[in-house]
Formats: sequence, structure tokens, C-alpha cells
Amino acid sequence: MPSLLPKTYESSDLTDDRLGSLTEINLESASDDADPGAANSKPDFAATEENENPPPLAGANVMNIILVAMECAPWSKTGGLGDVAGALPKALARRGHRVMVVVPRYGIYSEAKDLGLYKRYKIAGQDMEVNYFHASIDGVDFVFMESPDFRHRGNNIYGGGRVDILKRMVLFCKAAVEIPWIVPCGGVCYGDGNLVFIANDWHTALLPVYLKAYYRDNGLMKYTRSVLVIHNIAHQGRGPVEDFSIVDLPDHYLDLFKLYDPVGGEHFNIFAAGLKTADRVVTVSHGYAWEIKTSEGGWGLHEIINDSDWKLQGIVNGIDMTDWNPEVDIHLKSDGYTNFSLDNFQTKKPQCKAALQRELGLPIRDDVPMIGFIGRLDHQKGVDLIAEAIPWIVSQDVQLVLLGTGRADLEEMLKKFDSQYHNKVRSWVGFSVKMAHRITAGVDILLMPSRFEPCGLNQLYAMMNGTIPVVHAVGGLRDTVQQFDPYNETGFGWTFERAEANRLINALGNCLNTYRNYKDSWVGLQRRGMSQDLSWDNAAKLYEEVLVAAKYQW
Ligand code: GLC
Repeated sequence: MPSLLPKTYESSDLTDDRLGSLTEINLESASDDADPGAANSKPDFAATEENENPPPLAGANVMNIILVAMECAPWSKTGGLGDVAGALPKALARRGHRVMVVVPRYGIYSEAKDLGLYKRYKIAGQDMEVNYFHASIDGVDFVFMESPDFRHRGNNIYGGGRVDILKRMVLFCKAAVEIPWIVPCGGVCYGDGNLVFIANDWHTALLPVYLKAYYRDNGLMKYTRSVLVIHNIAHQGRGPVEDFSIVDLPDHYLDLFKLYDPVGGEHFNIFAAGLKTADRVVTVSHGYAWEIKTSEGGWGLHEIINDSDWKLQGIVNGIDMTDWNPEVDIHLKSDGYTNFSLDNFQTKKPQCKAALQRELGLPIRDDVPMIGFIGRLDHQKGVDLIAEAIPWIVSQDVQLVLLGTGRADLEEMLKKFDSQYHNKVRSWVGFSVKMAHRITAGVDILLMPSRFEPCGLNQLYAMMNGTIPVVHAVGGLRDTVQQFDPYNETGFGWTFERAEANRLINALGNCLNTYRNYKDSWVGLQRRGMSQDLSWDNAAKLYEEVLVAAKYQW
């Protein structure tokens, strides 16, 4: 858990340097969530009105839902938020809701059509124009907001000076809250009938505030609600109190934004205002929902979170099963890799391991445990704990693969390990979707020593791929990786209670011992991990309950 509060309104607070940039955009994998066989799988009996139009899973709760986020995979992604924005809406649409995603247009996305709709907004006295592009994919309306401010930002979504970043977020939220009135999707605007917005992280936390200030305070959009999802509370949109002039709200709204904490003193805090104003708040695991109520985990917002406890719920993210299911993963189809499933992983996963060893130029040996780390190179992800443990790790008969980008000093450190222990260690500094998939499928063990981890997706991807996670028991890692119990043969991996190198070594040592000496237990761990239903469908149902509560429970 973080022990220090972030400094007040440093530009780095607004500069959310998540996992570098997405250099390889994988359009194929996102283009089709539907079962390819579905078109042919209609039951062989005369169609009646009922089976032609089955009732929606959402039943009477069918809603119009607009999810707003600063990134959405596969078009833009710096981390898990992009994955969530790409996948949750499709799962909600499968339940029968009408769902739109609004995201900035950072580049040219060939599948999206220009709607030719221009609108101007005044941001800090300056006229800013936006225009909209639209694509309908897997039952979801993806609306891309074009503006000179977003263009070509794909590699640096959260970059720039504090005020510039703030202006971008203000523009995005001001325009997004109007979208139900001005952007027709399939010819018809969403309007405010049965509408709920889902905003994500501080970047879109102004949307609930604008919904209230511009509409609901004026008796408009009376039945529209907003839900704010916390993916990472460490980034909050902090600034000096004078930043209030940029957000364009009535004076009496200032108090919502003002926050005092011992490190920053009195300051302006966008997440604070969004959390207070949203009708419901979700965070991405139960463990994190608990942690953000503590002074260590709330990064200064814990009192607001505690006051909002009645409207807070933890929902663990799902994963996109077209993308991360080793049975169909497109990154396992060439270069010696192979798709595999629960039925054949014992013979096929070793092929992926050999292909990975070959691709990385490591000795090709099936018996050597291969350990992976994939993540942003920063304090949160605990890569420095791996560094502390490295003398012990390389004293073992193991291979270690590290993939990530981030802090320059940590990137250097990874490169140093690669050259220093070249017979055992490979570092891939950069971000490659393909390598992330291949490492996840090829290694035996995935290390996640994150100091804090709101949900974490890599441990879920690992388990889907028969790779055993060794994790710091925190946030979503605690929720999803149940410690292995050798007596009852239960659990999914190894956990350690404190983010310290010796704890990591201890957990990893136990894991290696099981790998080497208790093969049946190992296969049991793999099998249990792979058998879980980690799809978005469960999570979407829980989100639906929150949206319903936002609409009807007061
Ligand atoms: C953030 C969190 C990560 C979570 C992701 C998606 O990146 O750090 O733990 O999985 O958001 O919710």
C-alpha cells in the first residue's frame, strides 16, 4: 500500500504515466466478441416470435448506458482502464442494454464514420471545437470525440502540463454530458430516458458534476444518473484552488472541489468532487474498496470515501475472453506457439514455453521453471522488489522474463539484469501486446509484487493460461488469487502479506518447490485456474445491479 500521499498538484499527478503507450494495436482481437458459430447455432425448430426475440437478460431493467473514458482498447490503451472500457460495454449490451462508449479520437480509426457534427465549447475563455465519429461494434455504439487537443495524443494520453491536461478533461466531460442530445446513433439520440452514465477515474469525474450543475439543478435530465468507477485513486486531478476558474461551474460548487490534506494543504481536487456528486461509486475489487477507506490506501480521499460508503461497491473486473482465451489467442498461432485448452494444456503449453525460450534466445529446457513479470515500471508495480530479490532468483535454476516500460531508472535496471545474467534473464523494455500474450502463455509462474493493485488483470490472464500467479495479497490480487493449500488441494497460487523482498522470496520458493516436486499439485493449480469463469458476463450483471440502484434506490 502507498505510504505517502501524493504531493499536491504536481504535474506528475495529472500526468498519468501508465503502461507506456500501446504500440501494437490489435484490431482483430477486438473486432468480434460474438461466438463465430452463433449464426449457425439456431435451434432447428420453427421460429416463433418468442425465440426470434428472446427477452433481454436484463429483463425489465433495460437501460441506456453511456460509458465515458479517456482510453478504450483496442484503439487507445495505457493500462487496464482501456481494457475495461473496451469490454464491459459489450457485456452490458449482451444483457440487452443500449450502450454507448465515448472516448477521445487520438488517431485515425478506419471503422469509425465521420458524423459531420461539430460543436464548440468555451474552455478557459478559448473556443474549442469537437466533432464526432461513430462505429457500431458488437452491439455497442463507439463514439470517438475528435478535437485538435486529442489528435495524435495516443502515445501520451495523460501527458502535458497540468493546466493543459485539465482543459482536455473539461472539454471532454462538457461535451460528453451533452452527447445523449446531439449524437444520433443509428439515427436516434439516446436522450435522457432511462439513462445512466458510467464515468471512469478522475479524468471523467467532472461528468457527474456537470450533469448536476448544468442539468439536474435546472430541473433537466431529472432521471439520469451517474456512476463513477475508481480504477486508481492515486491519480486525482489535483491543482491549486484557482483551477476552479477553468472548470466553468457556479461559485457555490467550489466547496465540492476543495480538499485539505496534511501534505498538500488546501487544494483543488477533481476526484473529490466527482465522488461526492456521483449517484453510485464502484471500484474494481472488494479488497480495494476496503483499502481506499484507510488513510494509507485513500491517498487523501479516504474520508470522502468513508462518507460515501453507502453508495460504494467493489466489483472485480472480468477479462475479454476472445482476447485472452489460449484456445483462440491470435498471438499463439505462429512462430512455434500453439493454442491450448483445458483438455490439452499439459502437452501444448510446454510448446509455447519452448517457443518463448527460442524467441528470447534462452536455453530451451522444459524442466526449468520460467518466471514472468509484465507491468508498468514504477513504484506501484513493485518491480524494485524483484530487483532486491534478484540475487536469490538467479541463484536458482530458473529463467526470468521481464516486460514493461516506465521510469527511466527502472528501464535501465532491467537492461542491466539482462546483460548481467544473460543465461537466465531477459528484459523486454517496451510494450508489446504480442509479447505480453506470449509470455503469459509460455511462462510457468507470473510475479505480481504490486504495492497496491486496485484489480489487476495480468493475474487473471495468467490463470486463464495455466500460469501460476505469485502475488502480493493486496486489492484485487487478494480477491482473485486464493493461496494454495496443499492439504486440501485448493487455491490458485501463492500470496505474500507484505510488499517486501524476503516475503516474495519465501512465496516464490514455495511455488518453485511445488513446481519441482509435486507435479500433480501443480497440474491441479493450473486446472483450477483455467476452469474459472473470469468473463465479463458476471461482472456486467453486478454493474447492472449498481446502475439499477443508482436509478431507483434513494
Ligand atoms: C488500473 C488499476 C488496475 C486495474 C485497472 C482496470 O490500471 O491500477 O489494478 O486492473 O485500472 O480497472
